[in-house]
Amino acid sequence: MKHLIDPTDLTKPEIDEIISLAQDIIAHRERYQGSMSHKKLATLFYEPSTRTRLSFTSAMMELGGNVLGFSDARSSSVSKGESVQDTVRVVGCFADVIAMRHHIEGAQLYATEVSTVPIINAGDGSHSHPTQTLTDLLTIQRELGHIDGITIGFCGDLRFGRTVHSLIKALSRYKDIKVILIAPDELKLPDYIKQDVCERTGIPYREVATMEEVMGELDVLYMTRVQKERFLDEDEFDRVKDSFVLDAARMALAKEKMAVLHPLPRVNEILTEVDADPRAAYFRQVENGKFVREALIVKLLEWKDDPEHGMPSDETPVEDPELRCPNKKCICNNEHAPHRFRRTENGVLRCWYCDSKVR
Ligand code: CP
Repeated sequence: MKHLIDPTDLTKPEIDEIISLAQDIIAHRERYQGSMSHKKLATLFYEPSTRTRLSFTSAMMELGGNVLGFSDARSSSVSKGESVQDTVRVVGCFADVIAMRHHIEGAQLYATEVSTVPIINAGDGSHSHPTQTLTDLLTIQRELGHIDGITIGFCGDLRFGRTVHSLIKALSRYKDIKVILIAPDELKLPDYIKQDVCERTGIPYREVATMEEVMGELDVLYMTRVQKERFLDEDEFDRVKDSFVLDAARMALAKEKMAVLHPLPRVNEILTEVDADPRAAYFRQVENGKFVREALIVKLLEWKDDPEHGMPSDETPVEDPELRCPNKKCICNNEHAPHRFRRTENGVLRCWYCDSKVR
C-alpha cells in the first residue's frame, strides 16, 4: 500500500510525476474535473488547520469527489478514548484515502500499520509535513523555473518547524542545493536533520545569526512562525518570539528574482508591507497547495496497490524492550505503539516513529 508519511516515501521520479501532474492540472483544469467522482477523501484533523484541511477539501471537490471527516477530534469517538489505529480501521470502511493531522508525532506512521486505504500525513507534531513540501517544491518550480541549483535560507523556528524538516529532506534529492540556516540558538535545526539528511546526502549548510548577512545570496527565503504551541516553557517562547522579522528594508538587500515562501499562518515575522512585493510568493504558494494535493490524490489512488510504487523497504525496525523513546509527544509514549528504533549509518539509534535520538 502506498502512503505518504515522510517526504522520502516518494522517490524523486514520483515527486517529479506529482509536480508535473499538478502543472498539467493548472493548465487544463477542465480535464480533471470529475476524475475522482464516486471517490471519498476522509480528513481527520486532531489539530487545527486552515490551509491544509481546506485545500484537501477543495482539491477533492475540484476532482468531483466527496469529503467526510472531522476538524476537531473532540466531536468524534476519539473523545471516548478510541485509538488512532481503531479510528483509521473504521474510517477505511467509509473512505478511499485518508488525510490526517495529529499533534502526536508518528501517529500517521503507526496508523499505516493497520490501514486498508492510503494515509497522507497532513502534519504530525513538529516532525513532518510532506504535503506542504510538495506545495513548496511546486511553488519554487513555478516561481524560479527550476529547483536544482538553488540557495535556500530557512529563517525562524527551525527546531519545531516541521515544514522545514520535510523540505530539507526532499531537497536532498535535488542537485547542487545550498542551505543557510537563520535561527536563534533556542530554535536551531534538530541534529537528526543536520546529520542524517544534510551531512549524509552532502548538502552544504551553514548557520548564521542575521538575515542581513545572507539576503543577497538567496534564491529562496523560507520564513517560518515561532510555534508557541510546541513550547513547554512560556518564558523561552517570550525570549525568541520576535527573533526575525522580514520588512521592506531587508527585502531591498535581496536578489531581484528571489522568492519568499512561508507555509503560513504568519504572526509578525513578515510585515504586511512585504505583501505587495512581487517576490512575496506565500499566497500563490497557498493556491499551489490545492493543485499539488489534487495531483497527490490522483497519483496515490493510482499507485496504491502497484508494487512498482510501494513504500521504501530498505529498513527493518530494531526492537529492544529495554529502550524507550525520550519524546513525550511520540505515539509510542501516548498509545500502545511498540518502542521500535532504527539504526542510522553513523550508529545512532533513533525512534522509528518520531526520529528522536535514543542512544
Ligand atoms: N501550512 C499549513 O500547514 O497551514 P495550516 O496549519 O493552516 O494547515
